[in-house]
Amino acid sequence: MAEEKTFKAYNSKQAQAYLARGAYHDRLYDLILRAHESTGGAFGKFVDVGCGPGNSTRELAKHFDRTWGSDPSEGMIEMARQLSEDVESETKSGGKIVWEVGREEDVGAGNREGEVDMITAAMAMANMISALPDPSTPNASAVNAILDRVQKERMAAYEEEGGRRWRMGYSDLPLPWDLSPPVPGFSNQGDSYSRIEKNLDGQLGSEEEFFLGERRVTLKELGGIMGTASSVVRWREVHPELAGTKDDIIIKTMNEVQEVLGREDLVVATGLVLLIFKKT
Ligand SMILES: C[S@@+](CC[C@H](N)C(=O)[O-])C[C@H]1O[C@@H](n2cnc3c(N)ncnc32)[C@H](O)[C@@H]1O
Repeated sequence: MAEEKTFKAYNSKQAQAYLARGAYHDRLYDLILRAHESTGGAFGKFVDVGCGPGNSTRELAKHFDRTWGSDPSEGMIEMARQLSEDVESETKSGGKIVWEVGREEDVGAGNREGEVDMITAAMAMANMISALPDPSTPNASAVNAILDRVQKERMAAYEEEGGRRWRMGYSDLPLPWDLSPPVPGFSNQGDSYSRIEKNLDGQLGSEEEFFLGERRVTLKELGGIMGTASSVVRWREVHPELAGTKDDIIIKTMNEVQEVLGREDLVVATGLVLLIFKKT
């Protein structure tokens, strides 16, 4: 994961807002678990690096004996711990997830007693949010043009390297074999590596539904979700006098959407890019 300063500094209030992004669709967890199982993966130890408030850590933990969630942001880990507090059993063996403040680069640290079976690093909603050209979304293409512009132009001007790579669907991410020297144990041959793309740029293709699911949201909720993007957090840090006013990057966009939509809610969806590496 590229260095991402804004998320790392997330306090517990921002982590709370991040929670509104919600969990991923079950189809994503099934896809990851099937790929792991079909390539001979064991279900002993699982680590989720950059786990945020732990939305996906908790889902995947149910399939492993032991699970660790780590994130450099203390606010995110505090939120993850709070959400875990009253849950008695989180892992397959009936144990609890171990939450720790730490960076991806230090994934080898910590007391995991040897090698782990699966590591995930989810950067959340890969690709853009699109309004669906659903009959219930009047002027969907005009709404999409507005959402596209804010994401690809206004927000993009405030993104860092990690955010840019995310927006580009990790198309230019250097992979283990591209590095000099290449990272041992990784290969792009056979089932050692796969790149799975679904619904990029809001395209449904021949499927009936977006892979990550579709969601009806109010414009207020959509504004809240888009407001958790690190580029928006940064825009608001640079323009504190405009944040929260009608000229706020997101409030202004939601007002533009409202104007062409003529209503308060719409159905939205996102694309997915999933990179799976099998260490040999
Ligand atoms: C977009 S959030 C994704 C959270 C969660 N994985 C999910 O999919 O919902 C990205 C997370 O990566 C963390 N992060 C940023 N730089 C990191 C690094 N170098 N190592 C590990 N995590 C990092 C941030 O603190 C943040 O919680």
